[in-house]
Amino acid sequence: MEIKKNFDLKKYNTFGVEAKAGFFAEINSEQDLIELLNLPEFKENEKLFLGGGSNVLFTKDFDGIVILNKLKGIEIIKESEDFVLVKSMGGEWWKDLVNFAVERGYWGIENLSLVPGTVGATPVQNIGAYGVELKDTLEQVEAYEIKTVSKKIFTNKECEFGYRDSVFKNKLKGQYFISAVVLRLSKKESKNIRYKALQEYLDKNKIEIKNVKDISNAVAEIRRSKLPDPKVLGNAGSFFKNVFVDFKKLEELKKKFPDMPYFEEPADAKAMAGEVKIPAGWLIEKCDWKGKRVGNVGVHEKQALVLVNYGRATGEEIKNLSERIIDSVYQKFGLKLTPEINLI
Ligand code: EPU
Repeated sequence: MEIKKNFDLKKYNTFGVEAKAGFFAEINSEQDLIELLNLPEFKENEKLFLGGGSNVLFTKDFDGIVILNKLKGIEIIKESEDFVLVKSMGGEWWKDLVNFAVERGYWGIENLSLVPGTVGATPVQNIGAYGVELKDTLEQVEAYEIKTVSKKIFTNKECEFGYRDSVFKNKLKGQYFISAVVLRLSKKESKNIRYKALQEYLDKNKIEIKNVKDISNAVAEIRRSKLPDPKVLGNAGSFFKNVFVDFKKLEELKKKFPDMPYFEEPADAKAMAGEVKIPAGWLIEKCDWKGKRVGNVGVHEKQALVLVNYGRATGEEIKNLSERIIDSVYQKFGLKLTPEINLI
Protein backbone atom coordinates (compact mmCIF):
# COMPACT_ATOMS: atom_id res chain seq x y z
CA MET A 1 0.00 0.00 0.00
CA GLU A 2 1.32 3.37 -1.05
CA ILE A 3 1.03 6.41 1.21
CA LYS A 4 1.15 9.65 -0.72
CA LYS A 5 2.18 12.99 0.71
CA ASN A 6 0.70 16.43 0.18
CA PHE A 7 -2.08 14.93 -1.92
CA ASP A 8 -4.51 16.96 -4.07
CA LEU A 9 -8.13 16.19 -3.09
CA LYS A 10 -9.87 18.09 -5.90
CA LYS A 11 -10.91 14.89 -7.69
CA TYR A 12 -11.99 13.30 -4.42
CA ASN A 13 -14.76 15.74 -3.50
CA THR A 14 -17.83 16.33 -5.65
CA PHE A 15 -17.79 20.07 -4.91
CA GLY A 16 -14.53 19.99 -6.84
CA VAL A 17 -12.73 22.40 -4.52
CA GLU A 18 -8.98 22.53 -4.05
CA ALA A 19 -7.60 21.10 -0.82
CA LYS A 20 -4.53 19.12 0.13
CA ALA A 21 -4.25 16.12 2.42
CA GLY A 22 -1.07 15.78 4.48
CA PHE A 23 -1.13 12.06 3.64
CA PHE A 24 -3.37 9.88 1.52
CA ALA A 25 -3.85 6.10 1.34
CA GLU A 26 -6.17 3.80 -0.60
CA ILE A 27 -7.57 0.78 1.18
CA ASN A 28 -8.05 -2.13 -1.23
CA SER A 29 -8.30 -4.93 1.32
CA GLU A 30 -9.04 -5.31 5.02
CA GLN A 31 -5.38 -6.31 5.37
CA ASP A 32 -4.37 -2.87 3.98
CA LEU A 33 -6.48 -1.21 6.63
CA ILE A 34 -5.08 -3.29 9.49
CA GLU A 35 -1.54 -2.57 8.29
CA LEU A 36 -2.18 1.16 8.02
CA LEU A 37 -3.86 1.50 11.40
CA ASN A 38 -0.95 -0.33 13.01
CA LEU A 39 1.74 1.93 11.54
CA PRO A 40 3.29 3.73 14.51
CA GLU A 41 3.88 6.94 12.51
CA PHE A 42 0.14 7.33 11.87
CA LYS A 43 -1.16 6.38 15.31
CA GLU A 44 -1.45 10.00 16.40
CA ASN A 45 -2.41 11.49 13.03
CA GLU A 46 -5.91 12.80 12.54
CA LYS A 47 -7.77 10.48 10.17
CA LEU A 48 -10.49 11.22 7.66
CA PHE A 49 -12.31 8.39 5.91
CA LEU A 50 -13.50 9.20 2.46
CA GLY A 51 -15.81 7.36 0.08
CA GLY A 52 -17.17 9.23 -2.92
CA GLY A 53 -16.54 12.66 -1.36
CA SER A 54 -20.16 13.58 -2.06
CA ASN A 55 -21.06 14.74 1.41
CA VAL A 56 -18.05 16.78 2.38
CA LEU A 57 -16.84 20.35 1.95
CA PHE A 58 -13.14 21.07 2.39
CA THR A 59 -12.77 24.62 3.64
CA LYS A 60 -9.03 24.24 4.20
CA ASP A 61 -6.23 21.72 3.81
CA PHE A 62 -6.42 18.61 5.96
CA ASP A 63 -3.18 17.98 7.81
CA GLY A 64 -3.83 14.38 8.81
CA ILE A 65 -4.24 11.26 6.69
CA VAL A 66 -7.14 10.77 4.29
CA ILE A 67 -8.08 7.10 3.94
CA LEU A 68 -10.02 6.18 0.82
CA ASN A 69 -12.29 3.15 1.10
CA LYS A 70 -11.92 0.98 -2.03
CA LEU A 71 -13.10 -2.32 -0.52
CA LYS A 72 -15.07 -4.15 -3.20
CA GLY A 73 -17.57 -7.01 -3.34
CA ILE A 74 -21.33 -7.59 -3.18
CA GLU A 75 -22.73 -11.00 -2.20
CA ILE A 76 -25.85 -12.68 -0.94
CA ILE A 77 -25.03 -14.18 2.44
CA LYS A 78 -28.44 -15.58 3.37
CA GLU A 79 -31.63 -16.24 1.51
CA SER A 80 -35.11 -17.49 2.32
CA GLU A 81 -38.38 -17.58 0.43
CA ASP A 82 -39.18 -14.03 1.52
CA PHE A 83 -35.91 -12.15 1.93
CA VAL A 84 -32.20 -11.96 1.20
CA LEU A 85 -29.33 -10.62 3.24
CA VAL A 86 -26.96 -8.78 0.92
CA LYS A 87 -23.50 -7.88 2.10
CA SER A 88 -21.68 -5.06 0.33
CA MET A 89 -18.18 -3.89 1.00
CA GLY A 90 -17.88 -0.20 1.88
CA GLY A 91 -15.96 0.91 -1.21
CA GLU A 92 -18.70 -0.16 -3.65
CA TRP A 93 -20.69 2.66 -5.22
CA TRP A 94 -24.13 2.85 -3.62
CA LYS A 95 -25.80 3.08 -7.04
CA ASP A 96 -24.19 -0.24 -8.03
CA LEU A 97 -25.61 -1.90 -4.92
CA VAL A 98 -29.04 -0.50 -5.80
CA ASN A 99 -28.68 -1.90 -9.33
CA PHE A 100 -27.64 -5.28 -7.93
CA ALA A 101 -30.89 -5.37 -5.94
CA VAL A 102 -33.14 -3.93 -8.64
CA GLU A 103 -31.87 -6.30 -11.34
CA ARG A 104 -32.67 -9.28 -9.12
CA GLY A 105 -36.07 -7.97 -8.11
CA TYR A 106 -35.21 -7.37 -4.44
CA TRP A 107 -37.25 -4.62 -2.78
CA GLY A 108 -36.13 -2.09 -0.21
CA ILE A 109 -33.61 0.37 -1.63
CA GLU A 110 -35.13 1.29 -5.01
CA ASN A 111 -36.29 4.68 -3.65
CA LEU A 112 -32.63 5.39 -2.92
CA SER A 113 -31.65 5.01 -6.58
CA LEU A 114 -28.91 7.37 -7.76
CA VAL A 115 -27.97 8.59 -4.29
CA PRO A 116 -24.32 9.44 -4.87
CA GLY A 117 -21.40 8.13 -2.84
CA THR A 118 -20.12 4.81 -1.56
CA VAL A 119 -21.80 2.14 0.55
CA GLY A 120 -19.47 2.70 3.52
CA ALA A 121 -20.66 6.29 3.86
CA THR A 122 -24.38 5.50 3.82
CA PRO A 123 -24.85 4.53 7.49
CA VAL A 124 -22.96 7.59 8.73
CA GLN A 125 -25.69 9.98 7.68
CA ASN A 126 -28.46 7.40 7.26
CA ILE A 127 -29.08 8.38 3.64
CA GLY A 128 -32.69 9.01 2.74
CA ALA A 129 -34.80 9.91 -0.27
CA TYR A 130 -38.39 9.56 -1.46
CA GLY A 131 -39.74 8.27 1.82
CA VAL A 132 -37.09 5.61 2.48
CA GLU A 133 -33.99 5.66 4.63
CA LEU A 134 -31.07 3.28 4.88
CA LYS A 135 -32.16 2.34 8.40
CA ASP A 136 -35.31 0.69 6.99
CA THR A 137 -33.30 -2.17 5.46
CA LEU A 138 -30.02 -2.10 7.34
CA GLU A 139 -29.30 -5.34 9.18
CA GLN A 140 -25.78 -4.64 10.39
CA VAL A 141 -22.65 -2.58 9.90
CA GLU A 142 -19.15 -4.03 10.03
CA ALA A 143 -16.54 -1.52 11.16
CA TYR A 144 -12.97 -1.40 12.44
CA GLU A 145 -12.26 0.45 15.64
CA ILE A 146 -9.26 2.68 14.95
CA LYS A 147 -7.83 2.55 18.45
CA THR A 148 -7.79 -1.23 18.85
CA VAL A 149 -7.72 -2.18 15.14
CA SER A 150 -10.47 -4.72 15.79
CA LYS A 151 -13.66 -5.42 13.90
CA LYS A 152 -17.01 -4.80 15.52
CA ILE A 153 -20.52 -5.58 14.33
CA PHE A 154 -23.17 -2.91 14.91
CA THR A 155 -26.82 -3.95 14.86
CA ASN A 156 -29.38 -1.54 13.42
CA LYS A 157 -30.27 -0.43 16.95
CA GLU A 158 -26.64 0.16 17.89
CA CYS A 159 -26.28 2.54 14.93
CA GLU A 160 -28.72 4.93 16.70
CA PHE A 161 -30.15 6.17 13.44
CA GLY A 162 -32.08 9.43 13.14
CA TYR A 163 -32.88 11.86 10.34
CA ARG A 164 -29.54 12.14 8.46
CA ASP A 165 -27.89 11.00 11.67
CA SER A 166 -26.23 8.03 13.39
CA VAL A 167 -23.88 7.08 16.18
CA PHE A 168 -21.00 7.41 13.67
CA LYS A 169 -21.70 11.16 13.40
CA ASN A 170 -22.00 11.64 17.14
CA LYS A 171 -20.60 9.54 20.01
CA LEU A 172 -18.31 7.51 17.78
CA LYS A 173 -17.33 10.23 15.30
CA GLY A 174 -14.03 9.43 13.61
CA GLN A 175 -13.53 6.30 15.69
CA TYR A 176 -14.58 3.63 13.20
CA PHE A 177 -13.84 2.73 9.58
CA ILE A 178 -16.95 1.19 8.01
CA SER A 179 -15.81 -1.83 6.05
CA ALA A 180 -19.16 -3.37 5.04
CA VAL A 181 -22.91 -3.20 5.45
CA VAL A 182 -25.51 -5.96 5.37
CA LEU A 183 -29.02 -5.15 4.13
CA ARG A 184 -32.21 -7.16 4.50
CA LEU A 185 -34.11 -6.92 1.22
CA SER A 186 -37.50 -8.33 0.41
CA LYS A 187 -38.26 -10.83 -2.35
CA LYS A 188 -41.95 -10.04 -1.95
CA GLU A 189 -43.35 -6.84 -3.37
CA SER A 190 -43.10 -4.09 -0.76
CA LYS A 191 -43.37 -0.81 -2.57
CA ASN A 192 -43.33 2.55 -0.87
CA ILE A 193 -44.80 5.31 -3.02
CA ARG A 194 -46.15 7.52 -0.26
CA TYR A 195 -43.68 10.37 -0.85
CA LYS A 196 -45.65 13.23 -2.38
CA ALA A 197 -43.26 14.14 -5.20
CA LEU A 198 -42.98 10.47 -6.21
CA GLN A 199 -46.75 9.92 -6.14
CA GLU A 200 -47.29 13.03 -8.23
CA TYR A 201 -44.72 11.93 -10.79
CA LEU A 202 -46.31 8.49 -11.13
CA ASP A 203 -49.81 9.98 -11.49
CA LYS A 204 -48.74 12.62 -13.98
CA ASN A 205 -46.96 10.11 -16.19
CA LYS A 206 -49.63 7.44 -15.66
CA ILE A 207 -47.04 4.93 -14.50
CA GLU A 208 -48.32 1.77 -12.92
CA ILE A 209 -45.78 0.07 -10.70
CA LYS A 210 -45.34 -3.51 -11.89
CA ASN A 211 -41.90 -4.22 -10.48
CA VAL A 212 -39.05 -2.80 -8.49
CA LYS A 213 -37.42 -1.38 -11.61
CA ASP A 214 -40.42 0.88 -12.29
CA ILE A 215 -39.84 2.67 -8.98
CA SER A 216 -36.11 2.86 -9.48
CA ASN A 217 -36.59 4.41 -12.93
CA ALA A 218 -39.13 6.93 -11.67
CA VAL A 219 -36.89 8.03 -8.79
CA ALA A 220 -33.93 8.31 -11.16
CA GLU A 221 -35.99 10.50 -13.51
CA ILE A 222 -37.10 12.85 -10.73
CA ARG A 223 -33.57 13.17 -9.40
CA ARG A 224 -32.11 13.85 -12.85
CA SER A 225 -34.67 16.59 -13.43
CA LYS A 226 -33.85 18.43 -10.18
CA LEU A 227 -30.37 17.68 -8.99
CA PRO A 228 -27.27 18.90 -10.80
CA ASP A 229 -24.70 16.36 -12.00
CA PRO A 230 -21.47 16.99 -10.05
CA LYS A 231 -19.48 16.14 -13.17
CA VAL A 232 -21.00 19.22 -14.76
CA LEU A 233 -21.56 21.47 -11.74
CA GLY A 234 -19.74 20.80 -8.47
CA ASN A 235 -22.16 20.10 -5.60
CA ALA A 236 -22.80 17.73 -2.72
CA GLY A 237 -26.58 17.26 -2.90
CA SER A 238 -28.59 18.87 -0.12
CA PHE A 239 -26.31 21.25 1.72
CA PHE A 240 -28.74 21.71 4.62
CA LYS A 241 -31.04 19.43 6.56
CA ASN A 242 -34.78 20.00 6.53
CA VAL A 243 -36.16 21.59 9.69
CA PHE A 244 -38.38 19.82 12.20
CA VAL A 245 -40.69 21.83 14.48
CA ASP A 246 -43.44 20.89 16.93
CA PHE A 247 -47.10 21.70 16.32
CA LYS A 248 -47.00 24.75 18.58
CA LYS A 249 -44.20 26.32 16.56
CA LEU A 250 -45.95 25.28 13.36
CA GLU A 251 -49.10 27.17 14.39
CA GLU A 252 -47.07 30.33 15.08
CA LEU A 253 -45.35 30.09 11.73
CA LYS A 254 -48.56 29.36 9.84
CA LYS A 255 -50.08 32.60 11.17
CA LYS A 256 -47.25 34.61 9.66
CA PHE A 257 -46.63 32.47 6.58
CA PRO A 258 -49.92 30.81 5.59
CA ASP A 259 -48.50 29.27 2.42
CA MET A 260 -45.63 27.52 4.22
CA PRO A 261 -45.62 23.80 3.28
CA TYR A 262 -45.03 21.15 5.91
CA PHE A 263 -44.96 17.38 5.90
CA GLU A 264 -45.92 14.87 8.53
CA GLU A 265 -43.48 12.18 7.56
CA PRO A 266 -41.16 11.83 10.48
CA ALA A 267 -37.97 10.17 9.39
CA ASP A 268 -37.58 8.54 12.74
CA ALA A 269 -41.00 7.91 14.18
CA LYS A 270 -39.82 7.85 17.77
CA ALA A 271 -37.33 10.70 17.77
CA MET A 272 -39.57 12.92 15.72
CA ALA A 273 -42.88 12.16 17.43
CA GLY A 274 -45.13 15.19 17.31
CA GLU A 275 -42.95 17.06 14.87
CA VAL A 276 -43.46 18.13 11.29
CA LYS A 277 -40.92 18.71 8.56
CA ILE A 278 -40.58 22.14 7.01
CA PRO A 279 -38.68 21.93 3.74
CA ALA A 280 -35.51 23.97 4.03
CA GLY A 281 -35.61 24.40 0.23
CA TRP A 282 -38.82 26.41 0.57
CA LEU A 283 -37.39 28.60 3.35
CA ILE A 284 -34.32 29.35 1.23
CA GLU A 285 -36.43 30.04 -1.84
CA LYS A 286 -38.61 32.48 0.13
CA CYS A 287 -35.47 34.39 1.09
CA ASP A 288 -34.86 34.86 -2.65
CA TRP A 289 -31.77 32.71 -2.84
CA LYS A 290 -32.96 30.18 -5.40
CA GLY A 291 -30.96 30.44 -8.64
CA LYS A 292 -28.78 33.24 -7.22
CA ARG A 293 -25.10 33.39 -8.05
CA VAL A 294 -22.47 35.08 -5.89
CA GLY A 295 -19.09 35.08 -7.62
CA ASN A 296 -18.03 31.46 -8.15
CA VAL A 297 -20.80 29.93 -6.07
CA GLY A 298 -24.56 29.81 -6.11
CA VAL A 299 -27.88 28.24 -5.14
CA HIS A 300 -29.18 25.74 -7.68
CA GLU A 301 -32.03 27.01 -9.83
CA LYS A 302 -34.14 23.84 -9.51
CA GLN A 303 -33.50 22.87 -5.89
CA ALA A 304 -32.67 25.54 -3.34
CA LEU A 305 -31.13 23.04 -0.90
CA VAL A 306 -28.23 22.50 -3.25
CA LEU A 307 -25.24 24.86 -3.37
CA VAL A 308 -23.10 24.73 -6.48
CA ASN A 309 -19.56 25.54 -7.55
CA TYR A 310 -19.50 27.34 -10.90
CA GLY A 311 -15.92 26.34 -11.48
CA ARG A 312 -13.31 28.03 -9.40
CA ALA A 313 -14.89 28.27 -5.99
CA THR A 314 -12.93 27.67 -2.83
CA GLY A 315 -14.44 25.75 0.05
CA GLU A 316 -14.35 28.96 2.05
CA GLU A 317 -16.54 30.76 -0.52
CA ILE A 318 -19.12 27.99 -0.42
CA LYS A 319 -19.09 28.06 3.36
CA ASN A 320 -19.54 31.85 3.36
CA LEU A 321 -22.55 31.57 1.08
CA SER A 322 -24.04 28.90 3.35
CA GLU A 323 -23.62 31.23 6.34
CA ARG A 324 -25.38 34.07 4.55
CA ILE A 325 -28.27 31.73 3.76
CA ILE A 326 -28.46 30.53 7.38
CA ASP A 327 -28.58 34.19 8.50
CA SER A 328 -31.33 35.24 6.14
CA VAL A 329 -33.53 32.22 6.95
CA TYR A 330 -33.05 32.97 10.64
CA GLN A 331 -33.91 36.66 10.17
CA LYS A 332 -37.09 35.90 8.24
CA PHE A 333 -38.41 32.78 9.94
CA GLY A 334 -36.53 32.47 13.24
CA LEU A 335 -35.53 28.94 12.17
CA LYS A 336 -31.96 27.74 12.28
CA LEU A 337 -30.73 25.74 9.30
CA THR A 338 -27.98 23.21 9.95
CA PRO A 339 -25.64 21.81 7.32
CA GLU A 340 -26.24 18.26 6.24
CA ILE A 341 -22.78 17.92 4.80
CA ASN A 342 -19.56 17.42 6.70
CA LEU A 343 -17.49 20.62 6.88
CA ILE A 344 -13.74 20.03 7.16
N1 EPU B 1 -39.06 23.00 -1.93
C1 EPU B 1 -39.19 24.31 -2.35
N2 EPU B 1 -38.18 24.87 -3.07
C2 EPU B 1 -37.05 24.18 -3.41
C3 EPU B 1 -36.93 22.85 -2.99
C4 EPU B 1 -37.93 22.28 -2.24
O1 EPU B 1 -40.17 24.97 -2.07
O2 EPU B 1 -36.19 24.76 -4.08
C5 EPU B 1 -40.14 22.38 -1.11
C6 EPU B 1 -41.37 21.98 -1.89
O3 EPU B 1 -42.48 22.24 -1.04
C7 EPU B 1 -41.24 20.48 -2.05
C8 EPU B 1 -40.53 20.10 -0.77
O4 EPU B 1 -39.66 21.19 -0.52
O5 EPU B 1 -42.47 19.85 -2.14
C9 EPU B 1 -39.73 18.81 -0.84
O6 EPU B 1 -38.78 18.90 -1.90
P1 EPU B 1 -38.00 17.62 -2.43
O7 EPU B 1 -38.96 16.51 -2.66
O8 EPU B 1 -37.14 18.06 -3.55
O9 EPU B 1 -37.13 17.19 -1.18
P2 EPU B 1 -36.25 17.98 -0.14
O10 EPU B 1 -36.92 17.90 1.20
O11 EPU B 1 -35.90 19.32 -0.65
C10 EPU B 1 -35.00 15.80 0.61
C11 EPU B 1 -33.59 15.30 0.77
C12 EPU B 1 -32.98 14.96 -0.59
C13 EPU B 1 -33.85 13.90 -1.25
C14 EPU B 1 -35.27 14.46 -1.37
C15 EPU B 1 -36.23 13.46 -1.93
C16 EPU B 1 -32.75 16.33 2.79
C17 EPU B 1 -31.78 17.29 3.39
N3 EPU B 1 -32.78 16.26 1.46
O12 EPU B 1 -34.94 17.06 -0.09
O13 EPU B 1 -31.69 14.38 -0.35
O14 EPU B 1 -33.35 13.54 -2.52
O15 EPU B 1 -35.77 14.84 -0.06
O16 EPU B 1 -36.57 12.54 -0.95
O17 EPU B 1 -33.45 15.63 3.54
C18 EPU B 1 -29.36 14.76 -0.21
O18 EPU B 1 -29.44 14.38 0.94
O19 EPU B 1 -28.28 15.14 -0.71
C19 EPU B 1 -30.57 14.84 -1.01
C20 EPU B 1 -30.58 15.29 -2.26
